Amino acid sequence: MKKLLHIDSSVLGPHSVSRQLSAAIVDRLRRATPNLDITYRDLTLTPLAHLSGANLVAAQGASIKDPAVQQELANSQTALAEFLAADILVLGAPMYNFTIPSQLKAWIDRILVAGKTFKYGAQGAEGLAGDKRVIVAISRGGFYGPGAPTEALEHLETYLRGVFGFIGVTQLEFISADGIQIGPEQRERAVAGALQAVANLRAA
Ligand SMILES: Cc1cc2nc3c(=O)[nH]c(=O)nc-3n(C[C@H](O)[C@H](O)[C@H](O)COP(=O)(O)O)c2cc1C
Repeated sequence: MKKLLHIDSSVLGPHSVSRQLSAAIVDRLRRATPNLDITYRDLTLTPLAHLSGANLVAAQGASIKDPAVQQELANSQTALAEFLAADILVLGAPMYNFTIPSQLKAWIDRILVAGKTFKYGAQGAEGLAGDKRVIVAISRGGFYGPGAPTEALEHLETYLRGVFGFIGVTQLEFISADGIQIGPEQRERAVAGALQAVANLRAA
């Protein structure tokens, strides 16, 4: 049975475009592959703490008695285990201030772990998560395509391509809804286009 990890990071709850798209992606994959084992994580309802120095020291085996640090370490290990177990990751990622929400950065800080998702060898860094398929639903208020005046401010998709590429993911798909803040018509058009792309996704 394939395992799917579904993660959302928008703070806008039911008004969120990326949540609507990530849910549609999971629904599409569920229909195409009935026995999917799905785990859901909402990074705004149960946020992960920012990485702490004590956490890093504890993760390297130091005995730290502070219950808060132990809890942080346990949360970190759960998030990493969920990711490692997943065959497919569906990630909702809105653009906030030109990049990912800080809640999502806190999650990335828990899954980019040397020896688990990448390692350093003679040739430099090598990704260890190449067995996974990652589908990212992104929503942006404006436009950042080639030639747009704000093109150079695009640090959402480019950043996530870098992150997942670094850990070896090659099956990386993006579904995007752009210009969400331009107006209701553009929002409708962007969401409809993204949902069409969802309908064309290959099965799990
Ligand atoms: C705090 C905040 C910051 C934002 N920053 C940007 C930005 O830098 N560039 C942009 O194009 N849109 C920006 N937007 C608009 C969002 O990208 C857009 O509304 C998108 O739909 C958000 O995804 P969501 O609906 O899933 O939350 C921002 C929205 C919020 C709430």
